[in-house]
Amino acid sequence: MPEDPRKAELLEHAQAHLFRSARDYGEPIIARGRGATLVDTDGKEYLDFGSGQMAASIGHNHPAITEALQRSSERILHLNTHLVSEEVIELARSLADLLPPQLQKVMLLSTGGESTEVALKVAKMFTGRFEVVGLLQGYHGHTGGALSVTFSNARGGYGPWVPGGMAIPTPYCYRCPLSMTFPSCDYACAKLGFDMIDAQSTGSLAAFIAEPILSAAGIIEPPPGYFPFVKRMCEERGMLFIMDEAQTGLGRVGATFAFEQDGVVPDVLALSKTLGAGLPLAAMVTSEEIEQDCHDKGMSFISSHQNDPFAAAIGLAVIEVLVKEGLADQARAKGQHLKDAYLRMKEDHPIIGDVRGRGLLLGMELIRDPETREPAVDETRRLTKRCLENGLILQQASYANIANVWRIAPPMTATYEELDRGVEILDKSMTELGL
Ligand SMILES: Cc1ncc(COP(=O)(O)O)c(C=O)c1O
Repeated sequence: MPEDPRKAELLEHAQAHLFRSARDYGEPIIARGRGATLVDTDGKEYLDFGSGQMAASIGHNHPAITEALQRSSERILHLNTHLVSEEVIELARSLADLLPPQLQKVMLLSTGGESTEVALKVAKMFTGRFEVVGLLQGYHGHTGGALSVTFSNARGGYGPWVPGGMAIPTPYCYRCPLSMTFPSCDYACAKLGFDMIDAQSTGSLAAFIAEPILSAAGIIEPPPGYFPFVKRMCEERGMLFIMDEAQTGLGRVGATFAFEQDGVVPDVLALSKTLGAGLPLAAMVTSEEIEQDCHDKGMSFISSHQNDPFAAAIGLAVIEVLVKEGLADQARAKGQHLKDAYLRMKEDHPIIGDVRGRGLLLGMELIRDPETREPAVDETRRLTKRCLENGLILQQASYANIANVWRIAPPMTATYEELDRGVEILDKSMTELGL
């Protein structure tokens, strides 16, 4: 493959001028992408099994998105936050059409962190309280309020977080925090968690927030019935129930929204990543009652790119593709195909401890020993690197800072051939490393 003559210089500039966020920047330097494939400046191709930052769920540079961008650039891209455009109104209506009657009021935003901030503000304003309960390994963004209810990331070095953030244990059945087994545990982690919250609360419990599947923590899928159980505990305490469907919303899990599969309707829904499918678009959705109450109390949230027409046009294009191409059904079928292939691989590679998740949001956990389930951290790192060299991008995730899981989320538009090729590359990489 021809070496890009500018590569050394670009890498030098990256080192000189990019402020690092936990990691170094280096090769590959990506030049372009289409569908599930990225191409670097040397012309080498990679299958992107992370859909960018878990967002490009209908594939990189989908023609519907590039057309929407083109159309927007001929109409209007950006507006004063208080001026609405046709695209913004239509997107709010289209989202409402996909949602149950309890979720009809939409605020359009840009990022997942922002959608968490607004969800929390709404819950606090509506209840008149300030305490928010999350899951110990939940992830809701890096803005101040969001990180105050995100406990899986290092929180030190920035002074105090927003008061009132508390956590209950993560329902991680593969490594149960209470060493129990589902279903005989009878949701003991939630019961203990809320006992601890009740003891610590100042009597100001506003909300509970969770991802339907904890992605950053390594695709942890709470057991069946967990969320209805927790929602009842919230209702007993007058708390709102917030679901953060940044990654699970809009088809990826094999339903339009994961909460449909979980048998609960949240009071507040946060959407982001998959709504813009790779471009900055997010939303907070709630009920007419909650919206009216917050409005009456004078709630405001303003940001420069709220209600941007170009982002709304992209959201509309994403929903159109989702519905027209039946992507939720595709994600269910393709996800099962991929999961079955990984489960077959597990028979030949004992390092694979667990394969989990649903639709095209899968997790693979690597272990050193099937008895002790010791996390295979170094092996995961070496395999991630080898897969990249072999043309497959896999994203490492970590539970309690132990990174031995891949979160596997190819675009829903990936072909079966691409999914199979990704499996072959992983199989080959494991074999090359003798794992
Ligand atoms: C569940 C969840 N919520 C919120 C966020 C934050 O989104 P953003 O990075 O767009 O602020 C993420 C990002 O990974 C996420 O996975």
